[in-house]
Amino acid sequence: MFKAKERVEDPATLSESKAKIISKELLGWRRNKMKLESIGFYTLSDDRCKNGSHKSPLWRTEILLGDKCNFKCPYCRTANNLYNRQLTKDKLFFILGNLFDIKIKNIRFSGGEPTLYKYLPEAIAFCYWQNIKRIAISTNGSADLDYYKKLIDYGVNDFSISLDACCGSTAKIMSGGIDMFNKIIHNIAELSKLTYVTVGIVFDENNINQIQETIKFTHNLGVSDIRIIPSAQYNKCAIFNNFNFEFIDKYPILKYRINNFKAGNNIRGLSERDNSKCPLVLDDIAIAGNYHYPCIIYLREQGGPIGNLNIIENIRSDRLNWYMKHNCHEDKICRNNCLDVCKEYNNRWKEFNDKIN
Ligand SMILES: C[S@@+](CC[C@H](N)C(=O)[O-])C[C@H]1O[C@@H](n2cnc3c(N)ncnc32)[C@H](O)[C@@H]1O
Repeated sequence: MFKAKERVEDPATLSESKAKIISKELLGWRRNKMKLESIGFYTLSDDRCKNGSHKSPLWRTEILLGDKCNFKCPYCRTANNLYNRQLTKDKLFFILGNLFDIKIKNIRFSGGEPTLYKYLPEAIAFCYWQNIKRIAISTNGSADLDYYKKLIDYGVNDFSISLDACCGSTAKIMSGGIDMFNKIIHNIAELSKLTYVTVGIVFDENNINQIQETIKFTHNLGVSDIRIIPSAQYNKCAIFNNFNFEFIDKYPILKYRINNFKAGNNIRGLSERDNSKCPLVLDDIAIAGNYHYPCIIYLREQGGPIGNLNIIENIRSDRLNWYMKHNCHEDKICRNNCLDVCKEYNNRWKEFNDKIN
Protein backbone atom coordinates (compact mmCIF):
# COMPACT_ATOMS: atom_id res chain seq x y z
CA MET A 1 0.00 0.00 0.00
CA PHE A 2 1.15 3.55 -0.66
CA LYS A 3 2.14 5.62 2.32
CA ALA A 4 1.69 9.40 2.24
CA LYS A 5 5.42 10.08 1.87
CA GLU A 6 5.55 7.90 -1.22
CA ARG A 7 2.97 10.01 -3.01
CA VAL A 8 4.54 12.19 -5.64
CA GLU A 9 3.20 14.92 -7.89
CA ASP A 10 4.68 13.94 -11.21
CA PRO A 11 2.48 11.17 -12.72
CA ALA A 12 5.43 9.64 -14.58
CA THR A 13 7.41 9.21 -11.35
CA LEU A 14 4.31 8.00 -9.57
CA SER A 15 3.76 5.17 -12.00
CA GLU A 16 7.42 4.21 -11.81
CA SER A 17 7.47 4.06 -8.02
CA LYS A 18 4.20 2.15 -8.06
CA ALA A 19 5.63 -0.30 -10.55
CA LYS A 20 8.64 -0.75 -8.30
CA ILE A 21 6.52 -1.52 -5.25
CA ILE A 22 4.34 -3.93 -7.19
CA SER A 23 7.31 -5.75 -8.64
CA LYS A 24 8.84 -6.00 -5.14
CA GLU A 25 5.64 -7.59 -3.91
CA LEU A 26 5.64 -9.94 -6.86
CA LEU A 27 9.23 -10.86 -6.13
CA GLY A 28 8.34 -11.68 -2.53
CA TRP A 29 5.51 -13.84 -3.76
CA ARG A 30 7.79 -15.55 -6.27
CA ARG A 31 10.48 -16.14 -3.65
CA ASN A 32 8.07 -17.89 -1.35
CA LYS A 33 6.98 -20.26 -4.08
CA MET A 34 10.10 -20.60 -6.16
CA LYS A 35 12.29 -23.63 -5.78
CA LEU A 36 16.02 -23.03 -6.07
CA GLU A 37 16.21 -25.37 -9.06
CA SER A 38 13.89 -23.11 -11.02
CA ILE A 39 16.50 -20.32 -11.03
CA GLY A 40 18.36 -22.31 -13.68
CA PHE A 41 21.81 -22.63 -12.09
CA TYR A 42 21.80 -26.37 -12.48
CA THR A 43 23.58 -27.47 -9.31
CA LEU A 44 21.43 -25.35 -7.01
CA SER A 45 18.34 -27.06 -5.66
CA ASP A 46 16.20 -27.09 -2.56
CA ASP A 47 17.39 -30.61 -1.82
CA ARG A 48 21.03 -29.62 -2.00
CA CYS A 49 20.30 -26.69 0.22
CA LYS A 50 18.44 -28.75 2.81
CA ASN A 51 21.22 -31.32 2.97
CA GLY A 52 24.28 -29.17 2.28
CA SER A 53 27.13 -29.65 4.76
CA HIS A 54 30.84 -30.43 4.81
CA LYS A 55 29.81 -34.10 4.51
CA SER A 56 27.35 -33.79 1.65
CA PRO A 57 28.45 -34.55 -1.92
CA LEU A 58 30.75 -32.02 -3.55
CA TRP A 59 28.46 -30.44 -6.04
CA ARG A 60 30.73 -28.32 -8.14
CA THR A 61 34.21 -27.11 -8.75
CA GLU A 62 35.42 -24.38 -11.04
CA ILE A 63 39.07 -24.76 -12.00
CA LEU A 64 41.03 -21.86 -13.45
CA LEU A 65 43.55 -23.48 -15.76
CA GLY A 66 45.71 -20.38 -16.00
CA ASP A 67 45.82 -16.70 -16.79
CA LYS A 68 46.68 -16.96 -20.49
CA CYS A 69 44.05 -15.24 -22.67
CA ASN A 70 43.84 -13.89 -26.24
CA PHE A 71 41.34 -11.18 -25.17
CA LYS A 72 42.08 -8.08 -23.14
CA CYS A 73 38.65 -7.26 -21.70
CA PRO A 74 39.25 -4.02 -19.77
CA TYR A 75 37.00 -5.08 -16.90
CA CYS A 76 38.53 -8.55 -16.47
CA ARG A 77 39.92 -9.21 -13.03
CA THR A 78 40.94 -12.83 -13.33
CA ALA A 79 44.31 -12.25 -14.94
CA ASN A 80 45.53 -10.19 -11.98
CA ASN A 81 45.45 -12.99 -9.49
CA LEU A 82 48.85 -14.06 -8.28
CA TYR A 83 47.72 -17.63 -7.79
CA ASN A 84 46.21 -18.04 -11.24
CA ARG A 85 49.34 -19.07 -13.10
CA GLN A 86 49.20 -21.78 -15.77
CA LEU A 87 48.69 -25.22 -14.16
CA THR A 88 51.18 -27.86 -15.22
CA LYS A 89 49.69 -31.00 -16.70
CA ASP A 90 50.88 -33.06 -13.73
CA LYS A 91 49.34 -30.66 -11.26
CA LEU A 92 46.01 -30.55 -13.08
CA PHE A 93 45.74 -34.32 -13.25
CA PHE A 94 46.78 -34.61 -9.61
CA ILE A 95 44.03 -32.15 -8.66
CA LEU A 96 41.42 -33.91 -10.82
CA GLY A 97 42.40 -37.28 -9.35
CA ASN A 98 41.94 -35.89 -5.85
CA LEU A 99 38.58 -34.37 -6.78
CA PHE A 100 37.41 -37.70 -8.20
CA ASP A 101 38.47 -39.39 -4.96
CA ILE A 102 36.26 -37.06 -3.01
CA LYS A 103 33.44 -37.64 -5.50
CA ILE A 104 33.06 -34.32 -7.22
CA LYS A 105 29.87 -34.24 -9.29
CA ASN A 106 30.27 -31.34 -11.74
CA ILE A 107 33.35 -29.55 -13.09
CA ARG A 108 33.79 -26.25 -14.90
CA PHE A 109 37.06 -25.29 -16.60
CA SER A 110 37.76 -21.60 -16.89
CA GLY A 111 40.71 -19.24 -17.01
CA GLY A 112 42.08 -17.08 -18.62
CA GLU A 113 40.90 -18.71 -21.80
CA PRO A 114 40.71 -22.47 -21.25
CA THR A 115 40.77 -23.28 -24.98
CA LEU A 116 44.38 -22.01 -25.03
CA TYR A 117 45.33 -24.60 -22.43
CA LYS A 118 47.09 -27.45 -24.18
CA TYR A 119 45.77 -30.27 -22.01
CA LEU A 120 42.09 -29.25 -21.96
CA PRO A 121 40.86 -32.08 -24.25
CA GLU A 122 42.70 -34.69 -22.16
CA ALA A 123 41.34 -33.21 -18.95
CA ILE A 124 37.81 -33.35 -20.35
CA ALA A 125 38.23 -36.95 -21.45
CA PHE A 126 39.52 -37.79 -17.97
CA CYS A 127 36.40 -36.24 -16.43
CA TYR A 128 34.16 -38.03 -18.88
CA TRP A 129 35.59 -41.44 -17.96
CA GLN A 130 35.07 -40.64 -14.30
CA ASN A 131 31.37 -40.09 -14.99
CA ILE A 132 31.39 -36.41 -14.12
CA LYS A 133 27.84 -35.35 -14.74
CA ARG A 134 28.27 -31.86 -16.03
CA ILE A 135 31.55 -30.99 -17.78
CA ALA A 136 31.48 -27.28 -18.48
CA ILE A 137 33.83 -24.77 -19.99
CA SER A 138 33.73 -20.98 -19.86
CA THR A 139 35.15 -19.54 -23.04
CA ASN A 140 35.25 -16.33 -25.03
CA GLY A 141 34.02 -18.31 -28.06
CA SER A 142 37.01 -17.48 -30.25
CA ALA A 143 38.39 -20.99 -30.84
CA ASP A 144 37.64 -22.89 -34.04
CA LEU A 145 34.23 -24.55 -34.24
CA ASP A 146 35.88 -27.90 -34.98
CA TYR A 147 37.87 -27.60 -31.77
CA TYR A 148 34.68 -26.96 -29.76
CA LYS A 149 33.04 -29.92 -31.48
CA LYS A 150 36.01 -32.04 -30.48
CA LEU A 151 35.49 -30.93 -26.87
CA ILE A 152 31.87 -32.07 -27.13
CA ASP A 153 33.06 -35.45 -28.46
CA TYR A 154 35.41 -35.69 -25.49
CA GLY A 155 32.62 -34.99 -23.02
CA VAL A 156 31.80 -31.28 -22.67
CA ASN A 157 28.05 -30.85 -22.25
CA ASP A 158 27.89 -27.24 -21.07
CA PHE A 159 29.37 -24.12 -22.66
CA SER A 160 29.30 -20.71 -21.11
CA ILE A 161 30.32 -18.22 -23.80
CA SER A 162 31.00 -14.55 -23.15
CA LEU A 163 29.29 -12.08 -25.50
CA ASP A 164 29.04 -8.51 -24.30
CA ALA A 165 27.64 -6.91 -27.46
CA CYS A 166 25.27 -7.19 -30.38
CA CYS A 167 27.64 -5.66 -32.93
CA GLY A 168 31.29 -5.92 -33.86
CA SER A 169 32.26 -2.39 -32.83
CA THR A 170 31.02 -2.69 -29.23
CA ALA A 171 32.37 -6.25 -28.99
CA LYS A 172 35.76 -4.85 -29.93
CA ILE A 173 35.62 -2.31 -27.12
CA MET A 174 34.48 -4.88 -24.56
CA SER A 175 37.21 -7.35 -25.51
CA GLY A 176 40.03 -4.81 -25.56
CA GLY A 177 40.39 -4.46 -29.34
CA ILE A 178 39.74 -8.03 -30.52
CA ASP A 179 37.85 -8.29 -33.80
CA MET A 180 36.27 -11.76 -33.72
CA PHE A 181 32.58 -11.00 -33.30
CA ASN A 182 31.36 -12.86 -36.42
CA LYS A 183 33.30 -15.99 -35.60
CA ILE A 184 32.03 -15.98 -32.01
CA ILE A 185 28.37 -15.57 -32.89
CA HIS A 186 28.66 -18.28 -35.52
CA ASN A 187 30.18 -20.60 -32.90
CA ILE A 188 27.43 -19.78 -30.41
CA ALA A 189 24.69 -20.51 -32.95
CA GLU A 190 26.28 -23.78 -34.09
CA LEU A 191 27.13 -25.05 -30.59
CA SER A 192 23.63 -24.22 -29.40
CA LYS A 193 22.32 -26.81 -31.86
CA LEU A 194 24.50 -29.45 -30.25
CA THR A 195 24.47 -28.92 -26.49
CA TYR A 196 23.61 -26.64 -23.57
CA VAL A 197 25.00 -23.17 -24.21
CA THR A 198 24.57 -20.14 -22.00
CA VAL A 199 25.80 -16.71 -22.95
CA GLY A 200 27.29 -14.45 -20.29
CA ILE A 201 26.80 -10.74 -20.91
CA VAL A 202 28.85 -8.39 -18.74
CA PHE A 203 27.75 -4.78 -18.92
CA ASP A 204 29.36 -1.52 -17.93
CA GLU A 205 29.27 2.08 -19.15
CA ASN A 206 30.45 0.97 -22.62
CA ASN A 207 27.55 -1.33 -23.50
CA ILE A 208 24.73 -0.63 -21.00
CA ASN A 209 22.82 1.34 -23.64
CA GLN A 210 22.70 -1.80 -25.81
CA ILE A 211 21.79 -4.31 -23.12
CA GLN A 212 18.27 -4.97 -24.37
CA GLU A 213 19.38 -5.37 -27.99
CA THR A 214 22.18 -7.66 -26.86
CA ILE A 215 19.72 -9.87 -25.00
CA LYS A 216 17.43 -10.07 -28.04
CA PHE A 217 20.37 -10.71 -30.31
CA THR A 218 21.56 -13.54 -28.05
CA HIS A 219 18.06 -15.01 -27.96
CA ASN A 220 18.11 -15.17 -31.77
CA LEU A 221 21.28 -17.25 -31.66
CA GLY A 222 19.27 -20.12 -30.16
CA VAL A 223 21.03 -20.37 -26.79
CA SER A 224 19.80 -22.27 -23.71
CA ASP A 225 20.02 -19.38 -21.25
CA ILE A 226 21.39 -15.86 -20.83
CA ARG A 227 23.26 -14.47 -17.81
CA ILE A 228 23.49 -10.71 -17.54
CA ILE A 229 25.68 -9.13 -14.91
CA PRO A 230 27.23 -5.73 -14.28
CA SER A 231 31.01 -5.76 -14.16
CA ALA A 232 32.27 -5.70 -10.59
CA GLN A 233 33.65 -2.20 -11.16
CA TYR A 234 30.42 -0.84 -12.66
CA ASN A 235 28.07 -2.62 -10.25
CA LYS A 236 24.80 -0.92 -11.18
CA CYS A 237 21.31 -2.12 -11.96
CA ALA A 238 20.19 -2.26 -15.56
CA ILE A 239 16.78 -0.65 -16.10
CA PHE A 240 14.17 -3.02 -17.45
CA ASN A 241 11.01 -1.46 -16.03
CA ASN A 242 9.43 -0.61 -19.35
CA PHE A 243 10.67 -3.61 -21.17
CA ASN A 244 9.05 -6.94 -21.84
CA PHE A 245 10.82 -9.78 -23.53
CA GLU A 246 8.17 -12.04 -24.99
CA PHE A 247 10.67 -14.92 -24.78
CA ILE A 248 11.60 -14.44 -21.11
CA ASP A 249 9.99 -17.67 -19.85
CA LYS A 250 12.39 -19.69 -21.98
CA TYR A 251 15.36 -18.47 -19.93
CA PRO A 252 15.20 -19.08 -16.17
CA ILE A 253 18.48 -17.35 -15.30
CA LEU A 254 17.67 -14.30 -17.41
CA LYS A 255 14.21 -14.13 -15.88
CA TYR A 256 15.62 -14.34 -12.38
CA ARG A 257 18.13 -11.54 -13.04
CA ILE A 258 15.63 -9.26 -14.75
CA ASN A 259 13.14 -9.72 -11.92
CA ASN A 260 15.89 -8.75 -9.49
CA PHE A 261 16.74 -5.67 -11.54
CA LYS A 262 13.07 -4.73 -11.84
CA ALA A 263 12.70 -4.99 -8.08
CA GLY A 264 15.65 -2.61 -7.69
CA ASN A 265 17.81 -5.32 -6.13
CA ASN A 266 21.45 -5.04 -6.94
CA ILE A 267 22.98 -8.24 -8.27
CA ARG A 268 26.04 -7.83 -6.10
CA GLY A 269 26.45 -7.19 -2.43
CA LEU A 270 24.91 -8.23 0.88
CA SER A 271 22.32 -6.43 2.93
CA GLU A 272 22.03 -6.63 6.71
CA ARG A 273 19.24 -9.16 6.31
CA ASP A 274 21.36 -11.62 4.38
CA ASN A 275 23.00 -14.64 5.98
CA SER A 276 26.39 -13.67 7.42
CA LYS A 277 27.60 -17.22 6.81
CA CYS A 278 28.40 -18.84 3.47
CA PRO A 279 27.30 -22.50 3.48
CA LEU A 280 27.98 -22.67 -0.25
CA VAL A 281 31.70 -23.05 0.53
CA LEU A 282 30.95 -26.39 2.17
CA ASP A 283 30.17 -28.24 -1.04
CA ASP A 284 31.33 -25.92 -3.85
CA ILE A 285 35.02 -25.29 -4.61
CA ALA A 286 36.91 -22.75 -6.70
CA ILE A 287 40.46 -23.71 -7.66
CA ALA A 288 43.43 -21.82 -9.07
CA GLY A 289 47.03 -22.98 -9.04
CA ASN A 290 47.61 -25.18 -6.03
CA TYR A 291 44.91 -23.48 -3.95
CA HIS A 292 41.20 -23.62 -3.26
CA TYR A 293 39.09 -20.52 -2.65
CA PRO A 294 35.66 -19.73 -1.23
CA CYS A 295 34.35 -18.95 -4.74
CA ILE A 296 35.45 -17.57 -8.09
CA ILE A 297 34.26 -14.07 -7.29
CA TYR A 298 36.34 -14.07 -4.11
CA LEU A 299 39.37 -15.13 -6.09
CA ARG A 300 38.78 -12.52 -8.81
CA GLU A 301 38.50 -9.82 -6.19
CA GLN A 302 41.94 -10.81 -4.90
CA GLY A 303 40.71 -12.62 -1.80
CA GLY A 304 43.14 -15.14 -0.33
CA PRO A 305 42.79 -18.92 -0.60
CA ILE A 306 41.25 -21.15 2.03
CA GLY A 307 44.03 -23.72 1.72
CA ASN A 308 46.27 -25.66 -0.61
CA LEU A 309 45.46 -28.85 -2.48
CA ASN A 310 48.40 -30.94 -1.30
CA ILE A 311 46.52 -33.11 1.16
CA ILE A 312 43.16 -34.24 -0.07
CA GLU A 313 41.83 -35.05 3.40
CA ASN A 314 42.30 -31.43 4.44
CA ILE A 315 40.25 -29.80 1.71
CA ARG A 316 36.81 -30.19 3.24
CA SER A 317 37.92 -29.68 6.82
CA ASP A 318 39.76 -26.48 5.79
CA ARG A 319 36.57 -25.29 4.15
CA LEU A 320 34.51 -26.14 7.19
CA ASN A 321 36.95 -24.18 9.41
CA TRP A 322 36.77 -21.22 7.07
CA TYR A 323 32.99 -21.40 7.11
CA MET A 324 32.89 -21.49 10.90
CA LYS A 325 35.20 -18.51 11.38
CA HIS A 326 34.14 -16.35 8.47
CA ASN A 327 31.62 -13.54 8.72
CA CYS A 328 30.56 -12.37 5.25
CA HIS A 329 29.29 -9.02 6.54
CA GLU A 330 32.72 -8.23 7.94
CA ASP A 331 34.55 -9.22 4.77
CA LYS A 332 34.56 -6.39 2.24
CA ILE A 333 34.82 -8.74 -0.72
CA CYS A 334 31.70 -10.72 0.27
CA ARG A 335 29.84 -7.65 1.47
CA ASN A 336 30.28 -5.84 -1.85
CA ASN A 337 30.36 -8.68 -4.35
CA CYS A 338 28.31 -11.67 -3.23
CA LEU A 339 25.98 -12.52 -6.14
CA ASP A 340 22.18 -12.65 -5.95
CA VAL A 341 21.98 -16.36 -6.56
CA CYS A 342 24.59 -17.18 -3.89
CA LYS A 343 22.79 -14.93 -1.39
CA GLU A 344 19.56 -16.67 -2.28
CA TYR A 345 21.13 -20.08 -1.64
CA ASN A 346 22.78 -19.04 1.62
CA ASN A 347 19.63 -17.37 2.95
CA ARG A 348 17.55 -20.36 2.02
CA TRP A 349 20.11 -22.67 3.67
CA LYS A 350 19.75 -20.70 6.88
CA GLU A 351 15.99 -20.97 6.69
CA PHE A 352 16.13 -24.70 6.04
CA ASN A 353 18.64 -25.58 8.70
CA ASP A 354 21.21 -24.08 10.97
CA LYS A 355 22.84 -27.35 11.77
CA ILE A 356 26.51 -26.30 11.74
CA ASN A 357 26.17 -22.93 13.45
C1 LIG B 1 37.38 -14.37 -16.74
S1 LIG B 1 36.39 -15.18 -17.91
C2 LIG B 1 37.31 -16.62 -18.21
C3 LIG B 1 36.70 -17.55 -19.18
C4 LIG B 1 36.68 -17.13 -20.64
N1 LIG B 1 37.89 -16.54 -21.09
C5 LIG B 1 35.48 -16.24 -20.92
O1 LIG B 1 35.65 -15.22 -21.60
O2 LIG B 1 34.37 -16.57 -20.51
C6 LIG B 1 35.04 -15.80 -16.99
C7 LIG B 1 33.89 -14.85 -16.83
O3 LIG B 1 34.25 -13.88 -15.90
C8 LIG B 1 33.67 -12.66 -16.29
N2 LIG B 1 34.36 -11.54 -15.65
C9 LIG B 1 35.68 -11.26 -15.62
N3 LIG B 1 35.94 -10.12 -14.97
C10 LIG B 1 34.76 -9.65 -14.54
C11 LIG B 1 34.34 -8.51 -13.83
N4 LIG B 1 35.20 -7.59 -13.42
N5 LIG B 1 33.03 -8.36 -13.58
C12 LIG B 1 32.14 -9.28 -14.02
N6 LIG B 1 32.46 -10.38 -14.70
C13 LIG B 1 33.75 -10.56 -14.97
C14 LIG B 1 33.83 -12.73 -17.79
O4 LIG B 1 32.99 -11.85 -18.48
C15 LIG B 1 33.48 -14.16 -18.09
O5 LIG B 1 32.09 -14.30 -18.29
